[in-house]
Amino acid sequence: MFELNDKVALVTGSARGLGQAIAIKLAEAGADLALCDLKAEWVEETAEKVKALGQRAECYGVNVADGESVATGIKAIEKDFGKIDVLVNNAGITKDGLMMRMSEDDWDAVLNVNLKGTFLCTKAAMRGMMKQRSGTIVNIASVIGLMGNAGQANYAASKGGVIAFSKTVAKELSSRNVRCNAVAPGFIRTAMTDALDEDVQNKMKELIPLSRFGEPEDVANVVLFLASDASAYVTGQVISTCGGMVM
Ligand SMILES: NC(=O)c1ccc[n+]([C@@H]2O[C@H](COP(=O)([O-])OP(=O)(O)OC[C@H]3O[C@@H](n4cnc5c(N)ncnc54)[C@H](O)[C@@H]3O)[C@@H](O)[C@H]2O)c1
Repeated sequence: MFELNDKVALVTGSARGLGQAIAIKLAEAGADLALCDLKAEWVEETAEKVKALGQRAECYGVNVADGESVATGIKAIEKDFGKIDVLVNNAGITKDGLMMRMSEDDWDAVLNVNLKGTFLCTKAAMRGMMKQRSGTIVNIASVIGLMGNAGQANYAASKGGVIAFSKTVAKELSSRNVRCNAVAPGFIRTAMTDALDEDVQNKMKELIPLSRFGEPEDVANVVLFLASDASAYVTGQVISTCGGMVM
């Protein structure tokens, strides 16, 4: 059920962190990987890991916030692999600050990558999926898009937008057998959360019923479920992967 043999998966922002963990998880399930990040060479490490699992991996430099870059990238991927079965919109950034101090540039930058990037990649990849009458799109949102967070108005708005966008895409594409779901991670152990001081980390853990930060693999497991036929009857849903922080 959790297998992706003969499937082609595209993961944006897959140079490191969650994107790399997701790419490896999908490769372990048998998928070939189109790996994208701002520069093609940034995904070479991930590509080596995918190839070590016996799967094909190709690297692409794509700026998800730029329509031309996305169109060129998706065209190249479809030419190289012949199709895209799974799209994981993972690329994302933060530019935190309280509303009083948040600049228009910081607002635009976060919305452009997180929300517009998800729109552009989905629009470019969905044509092929609709034609082949199959495909799954998994958008990486955040619990912050469900609950808000002081200092993250831009990020919260972008991830809330990703959730609403996912539901709409699910409704528009379901008649072509293309599914679209969102994953909302909580605090996941990455370079970002490791950098927080111990006091802050302990305070955060008090908010998590399972009393630990998530691992990138915890998120990757849920993405694999949503990418595979194990979730054939699941579309338009948001699965929080947050140790119970949001219920
Ligand atoms: N780490 C967490 O705790 C956490 C929690 C909730 C949601 N998320 C979401 O998960 C996703 C991955 O987060 P992460 O922690 O692995 O972050 P990260 O910063 O480690 O990785 C993000 C990747 O996206 C790439 N990227 C940034 N802008 C891009 C662009 N314009 N075009 C293409 N690639 C671009 C970066 O180069 C990087 O490789 C993001 O969407 C983030 O919002 C993370």
